[in-house]
Amino acid sequence: MNRRTSSIFRRGPRPQVRPHPVDMAENLEQAGFLDRAIRTISTGVKRALPEGPVKDALHGVPVGHPAHPPLTDLPMGCWVSSAVLDLVPGTRRASSALVAVGLAGAVPTALTGIADWSALHREQQRVGLVHAMGTAAASALYGASLVARLRGRDGAGRTLGLAGLGALFAGGYLGGHLAFRQAAGANHADQVSHLVTLGWHDLCPATDLPDGWPVRRTLGYISLFVLREEDDIHVLTDRCSHLAGPLHQGRITNDDDGETCVVCPWHGSTFRVADGSVVHGPATSRQPAFETRVNEDGIVQVRPLS
Ligand code: FES
Repeated sequence: MNRRTSSIFRRGPRPQVRPHPVDMAENLEQAGFLDRAIRTISTGVKRALPEGPVKDALHGVPVGHPAHPPLTDLPMGCWVSSAVLDLVPGTRRASSALVAVGLAGAVPTALTGIADWSALHREQQRVGLVHAMGTAAASALYGASLVARLRGRDGAGRTLGLAGLGALFAGGYLGGHLAFRQAAGANHADQVSHLVTLGWHDLCPATDLPDGWPVRRTLGYISLFVLREEDDIHVLTDRCSHLAGPLHQGRITNDDDGETCVVCPWHGSTFRVADGSVVHGPATSRQPAFETRVNEDGIVQVRPLS
């Protein structure tokens, strides 16, 4: 290596990099030392919350959106408001009431969060675990704050409340990272209206489709789940709306009304193949579906179901 080449690669002093919260959150994504605890807790959650209507409700299936994010507004709103009232003379009782209501709201918030957390990717679960530790610490501090306030130790109650608020913001920051950076709770199905033009599109010869066995086909940029049941052909987008699992590798089953459904191989979300509606979570968003027809040349044609 000549002198000029070596000088190009010579290492200078490392630039001063200020630690940034998002770097710490990204490091948490890779924190493998949390995995043993995650496995233990996941097993416990799966035992305590079996698949069924209660777990579906905790995911938010009946309302079509994840239930956890809006519920977080209740404890957070109450506790921030309480911190503001603590600065206003003569509002001791109102502030204590807000702390108590926030604690009551923390219970369904935690339950919905636990249900969602149990069906995430490992990197998301690592961040989610620390997020939960932060919000659990906040709840414990607010619980202690309420006890202190009820015993007339208002100074201690306010101090514990402020400490709880700090823990809440730290946990909330990680919740934001989980939702917006790692896209937990977002709809991961392909956005058909942006990716498929209007009208009918040729897909494949009908004779290429096995009967009763799902296959993957592509239409432009997107992958499709295709299931033929004798003369009926059902087409959904293939990337599961929960976390983009491949539906064509899923299990075919029937719902309580006998309608054909597909079960996602990753976390068990169940969709009706006729219209993509959600039968069981953790998915809360409908799977985009397509109308189908077979033309005179035997070609399956599809267009998005409006
Ligand atoms: S990716 Fe999670 S249920 Fe499909």
